[in-house]
Parts: sequence; C-alpha cells; structure tokens
Amino acid sequence: MPKGKVRIGIAGLGRLGKRHAANLASLPNVRLAAACSLVDEELEWARSELALEALYTSYEEMVASGQIDAAFIVSSSAVHAKQSILALEKGLHVFCEKPIGVNVEECRAVERAVESRPGLVYLPGFVRRFDPSFAYAKRLVDEGAIGTPFLVRSQTVDLDEYAAFQVKFVPTSGGIFLDMNIHDIDLARWFLGDEVESVHAMGGSFVHPEFEAVHDADNTVALARFRTGKMAVLSVSRTAFHGHDTHTEVTGSKGTLKIGITPAKNRVELFDAAGARVECVKDFYERFAEGFMAEAREFVDCVLCGRKPIVTARDGTAATEVGFALAESFRLQSIVRV
Ligand SMILES: NC(=O)c1ccc[n+]([C@@H]2O[C@H](COP(=O)([O-])OP(=O)(O)OC[C@H]3O[C@@H](n4cnc5c(N)ncnc54)[C@H](O)[C@@H]3O)[C@@H](O)[C@H]2O)c1
Repeated sequence: MPKGKVRIGIAGLGRLGKRHAANLASLPNVRLAAACSLVDEELEWARSELALEALYTSYEEMVASGQIDAAFIVSSSAVHAKQSILALEKGLHVFCEKPIGVNVEECRAVERAVESRPGLVYLPGFVRRFDPSFAYAKRLVDEGAIGTPFLVRSQTVDLDEYAAFQVKFVPTSGGIFLDMNIHDIDLARWFLGDEVESVHAMGGSFVHPEFEAVHDADNTVALARFRTGKMAVLSVSRTAFHGHDTHTEVTGSKGTLKIGITPAKNRVELFDAAGARVECVKDFYERFAEGFMAEAREFVDCVLCGRKPIVTARDGTAATEVGFALAESFRLQSIVRV
C-alpha cells in the first residue's frame, strides 16, 4: 500500500455509488484508483467528473488488477456477498453497503471470510451509526443518560415520488425489510445492546399496488421482542409527501431520546398566513450526507491504522437475520422466531 494513501476501487456507480465515489475522491489519504459498473454512462461519468482512467465492467478484473488495496462495494445488494468474499480472498480491505448479503447463508459466508483474514478491515455500511446525532445519542445512552434502555421506536420513510424507482429496485434489493427497515433493525440492536428473539410484521400496498405484484409492500410496521424482553417498533413507508422522515426514539428507565423527529432541512422556520412550517430533507442522502462522509473516513482510518471498525460482519448478519424474519412474518401473517 502506498504510504499514507489507500488505493480504493469502487464497485457500483449508481444512485449511491456516485456519491461515495465523490466522497472518496475528496479524502486526502485516499487515491480513488479504479471504478467498476455495468453501465457505460456511469463509467463515462467517472472519467469526466473524477478523471478516473482505470474503469472496469468486470468486478473480477478490477479486484485482480493489482491497482487497489481496498474494494468499496456499492453495487446491487444481490452481489454484495460474492463481491466481498472475492475481494477478501484477493487480500483487499472491504467496505460493503448494507445489506451485506441477501440471505443469511451469504452473510455467514462473509463472516467466515472476514474471520479467516484478521489483518483485513471489513466495514458494513450502516450509515446511521456515523451520523453525528445518532452517534451522540449512543454516547448518551452508554453514559446512562436515560437509564437502562428498553424500547426503540424507529422508522424509515421515503417520499412517494421515489416509489416507481423502488418497485424496479425490489428484485435486487431484497425487499422493504432488508433494503429499508434494516437500518432501524441495526439501530435497535445497537441502542438496546440485545438480540431480537421474535418479530411480528404486517403491511400492505396501500398506495401503489405495483408493490404487491412483486410480493412487497409500500407501508409496513413490525414489533420486535428481544431476548431480555426489550422491545422495538420498526416501521417503513414509501409514500410520504413531506420529506425523507427517518427518525428514532429510545426510551429507558430514566428518560427518552428522540433523534431527528422533525426531518428539517435546516433551522429556518417560516411563519406566515398559512401557519408555521419547516422545509424537510428530500432523500436519504440529504439527511445522511455527513454520515456517509464519516463512514468513508472511518473505513480509511481503520485501514491506515490497522484498527477494527465499530460495526462488524456479525452486525450485518444479525440485521439480515431479523430482516428475513420480518419478511417471513409479513408473508405468513404470524409471529416468527429469529
Ligand atoms: N446506506 C444507505 O442508506 C443506502 C442508500 C441507498 C442505497 N444503499 C445500498 O447501495 C447499493 C446500491 O444502491 P443504488 O441505489 O446506488 O443502486 P443502483 O441500482 O442505482 O446502482 C447499482 C450499481 O451497481 C452496479 N452493479 C450491479 N451489479 C454489478 C456487478 N455484478 N458488478 C459490478 N457492478 C455492478 C451497477 O452497474 C450500478 O452502478 C444497494 O446495495 C443499496 O442497498 C444504501
């Protein structure tokens, strides 16, 4: 590895991959050395916007090129596990977007590959853990600010205008629970320090019947019971009109923390004849831009310092296990043990 700079190859230059690529290119201790996509226009974007020359349509060729020290995987969820394992086998550090695999077997295979290469860094992309407000809330919980936490209520809510994109995304994303609710699952495990024992999910295609046609839903809600009896209420909506309304509440024996309850774009409030209102963030990227940057910095820092990241492959597997149980519970309309 060149002293002080990590050479990174990014896989996937889609909706999120372009953002990650631009973030990585801006970091002083990174050389964005290669990129890979199945889409020619995206590779052209990397050439013109980031002056990248090592461009691949084959991930296998990119990781075998000898040009990179780390793979930054932002490709479709369906190929995450396969691509992570291949990179680790080639001796590369890996950042992988959530979910780390679209079934539990895949996730366990990733875990085994990570365990067998203890000198390599593996970081699953649970971006909310790197968001300043969520990170601050976790510090408060750890310091005992709300006593013993026993209840998490967490939601992921997207604007209705993205529903048409989401319908097309379902076949490779793993569906609403694995693609969206997985963030809330990870937060609930993180804040409660406990593992989910059973779940009961329900939902439907209340606004867009197209989701039902692909065995998915546009709105869901689920109850999760943890091994010690702690609880979580996890919900998702793809049909909001006010903004990307992702927020979380953590209740403990001495108080409650509310994180991002109003998805405000900034601190401006408009008071006029129509009343009082704030503009909202539009999408996940606008809400979590700082988190995505912090996550990239954490990955690079871990590689350069030989440090283990705060999120592990085990966290990735556990979240996928619960995501699967939620999907199963939704399908069977009954309580499912994890
Ligand atoms: N952390 C978050 O909040 C968050 C938000 C959005 C997306 N994501 C995750 O990021 C990933 C990408 O999402 P997106 O919205 O950018 O998707 P997208 O469909 O816009 O882009 C997918 C990209 O993957 C590439 N790709 C697919 N298969 C490939 C292969 N075999 N080899 C090389 N490249 C391949 C495509 O060429 C494309 O560039 C998904 O796994 C998604 O779950 C995470």
